[in-house]
Amino acid sequence: MINQKQIRNFCIISHIDHGKSTLADRLLELTGTVDKREMHEQYLDMMDLEREKGITIKMQPVRMEYQVQDSKYILNLIDTPGHVDFTYEVSRSLAACEGAILIVDATQGIQAQTLNNIYLALEHELKIIPVINKIDLSLAEPEKTASEIEKIFGIAKEEIIFISAKTGQNVDQVLKAVIDRIPAPKNDLSKPLRALIFDSDYDKYKGVIAYVRLFDGEIRKDEKIILMANKKETNVSEVGYFKPNLLKSLKLSAGEIGFIATGLKKVSECRVGDTITIKGASEVESLPGYKEPKPMIFAGIFPTENDNFNLLKSALEKLKLNDASLSFEPTTSTGLGFGFKCGFLGLLHLEIIKERLEREFDLDLMVTSPSVSYKIYKTNGKIFIINNPTEYPDPSEIKKIEEPYVKVEIITPSKYLGGLMELVNTRRGIYKETQYLDAERALLVYELPLSEIVITSPSSPPFYDQLKSISSGYASMNYELVGYRESSLVKLDIFVAHEKSDAFSQIVFADSAYSIGRALVKRLKELIPKQMFAVALQAAIGNKIIARETIPALKKDVTAKLYGGDYTRKSKLLEKQRKGKKKMKNLGRVSIPTDTLFKLLK
Ligand code: GTP
Repeated sequence: MINQKQIRNFCIISHIDHGKSTLADRLLELTGTVDKREMHEQYLDMMDLEREKGITIKMQPVRMEYQVQDSKYILNLIDTPGHVDFTYEVSRSLAACEGAILIVDATQGIQAQTLNNIYLALEHELKIIPVINKIDLSLAEPEKTASEIEKIFGIAKEEIIFISAKTGQNVDQVLKAVIDRIPAPKNDLSKPLRALIFDSDYDKYKGVIAYVRLFDGEIRKDEKIILMANKKETNVSEVGYFKPNLLKSLKLSAGEIGFIATGLKKVSECRVGDTITIKGASEVESLPGYKEPKPMIFAGIFPTENDNFNLLKSALEKLKLNDASLSFEPTTSTGLGFGFKCGFLGLLHLEIIKERLEREFDLDLMVTSPSVSYKIYKTNGKIFIINNPTEYPDPSEIKKIEEPYVKVEIITPSKYLGGLMELVNTRRGIYKETQYLDAERALLVYELPLSEIVITSPSSPPFYDQLKSISSGYASMNYELVGYRESSLVKLDIFVAHEKSDAFSQIVFADSAYSIGRALVKRLKELIPKQMFAVALQAAIGNKIIARETIPALKKDVTAKLYGGDYTRKSKLLEKQRKGKKKMKNLGRVSIPTDTLFKLLK
C-alpha cells in the first residue's frame, strides 16, 4: 500500500538543449529504474525521430523508486520538450505535477524558453527546484548564471543546485531536493475517482491508452469508467505505470501517475484534458482540463495516391491521440484531390507530423505551402477567417485584411543587439522595449507579423536561422499571439504548365510579392525535374504575371546507356525508377517530387 506522503510528481523543464533528457538519464541510473545494460543516452526520447534529430518532441513519464533510509519513495518524473513548438506538451505535464526541476545551462544562462517555462510552472503553482547544469564545461559560468537566476526570478542562490548531468556530479542532490522540497500530493483516496488525462496513445490490441494523474479515488482492472466530456462508458482492460514502458499493476490510487487501457477503438472518444470517473459515482466535478492550443500555421496534407485518403484519415486520428496540438479537417484541392487541412504550432511541428505520418503509418504525402490565418473584412459587411490561400476571395470584394501579430522576446548578448534589430526591422517589426538582464545581456521585445516568423520562402530564409546566425548561436526567442492587425496583403498564385497549383499559393505582404514570386519560380525550376515537354512556371497576382521561368523539355531513356545488353541491370534500373516515381505527385500533366515544398522552404 502506497502512502501519498511517499509520492513526488515532478517534471523537468528548460530551454532547448540545456540537458533535461541527460539529467533524466542520470536519475534513471541512480534509482536503478533502467538496467545498466539497457541504458543508453537520452533514454526517455523513445521515438527514433527524437534520437535522430537530438531533440525531445514528446513528454515522457517514468516511475522511479528510491529508498532513503527506511522510506521508499515513488518518484514520477515527466521529461518534457524544450522547443517552442511543443510548449503544449510542457503545460500538460505541469498540470499533472506538484513540482518542476528548472534547468539552466551554465554556458548559456537564462534563455527565452527558460522564461516561458518558469512562468508556466508558476501559473500552475508548482514548487521549482533551480538547477544549473553543464558545470563540467570549461566555458561554464555557474556563478554568473546563479546571479542571473537570483536577479530575474528572485530565487535565492542557496536554493540552486550546481550539477553536471553528463558526469553525474551532484545529481544525488537533485534527487534529495525532489524528496525534501516538492510537496507530496494531497489527494483524497476516499472520494470517487477523478483522473486527468494528460496524454494518450493507441495500441492495436488495447485500444486507446489514457495517460492519467489520479486526483481522487482509485481504479482497478475491469472496473467501469466514464469519460466525462462525452459521457462515454467503457471497461478498464488494464492499469499500470510507466517504467518507462507500460507495466501492469493491480490498481492506481489518488496522487499517482499511470495509464488506463480503455479498450476504446474510436479514438475521438478519448480527449486529452478530459476527466475519467467511475461509473455510478454521483456529483463528480470535472477537473479543469486544458485550454485547446491555438494552431499557429495551417497546411494541406494530401496522400500522393488518392485511394489512401481513408488511411490518412485514420492515421491523423491516431496521431492526434499522441499529439493533442494537431488539428485537422477534410478538404479538397484542384490538382491534389482529397486531403486534410491541418493546424500546427509551428514549422518544426509540421515537419515532425509529416515525418511521423510517413514513418508510423507508411504513407506518402504531399504538403501545401503553410499559411497563418487571416481575418477578411468584405465590402458587404461580412467578416471571416481564412487559413488557406485557396479561400481568398476576389480582391474587389475585400474591404481590408488583418493578420496575426506576435509579441517576440529575444534574449541576446548585447553586442548582437544592432544586427538583431536590423533583422526584426526587415520583418516589419514594431519596437517595444529593451531590458538589460545584466551588463552583457539584453531582452529585446518587438511585435511583428506571425507570418514573418513562421513562414519561409526562397526570398526570406527562416527567421530563427537568421537570428542564430547573426548572434553566432547565442540569441534565443519566444513568441506569443497578441491579436490581429491590418496589413497590405495580396494572394500570390503559382501556375505550373499553365495550371494554377494550390500547393504553392501564398498570401504575402504586398511590398514583398514581386521578390517572393520571382524567387519561388526560380527555385521551383531547380526542384521540378525536366518533363517530356517544356514546363512554364509563372507567379501571378490576380491576372497579372509577375515572374516566369521555363523548365526545358527532356526526352530521356533511362536504359539507353546500357547498350541493350544486360537484362538484369536494365530491369533493376527500371525498378529503381519505378520506386523513385512513388514519391511523385501529378499536378495536372506535371509530375513533381512530393518533398518539393519542404525543399522550397529550406
Ligand atoms: P530538448 O529536449 O531537445 O530540449 O534537449 P534537452 O534539454 O533534453 O537536452 P539534452 O539532455 O538532449 O542535452 C543536450 C546536449 O547537451 C547533449 O549533447 C548532451 O550530451 C549535452 N549535455 C547535457 N548535460 C550536459 C552536461 O552536464 N555537461 C556536458 N558537457 N554536456 C551536457
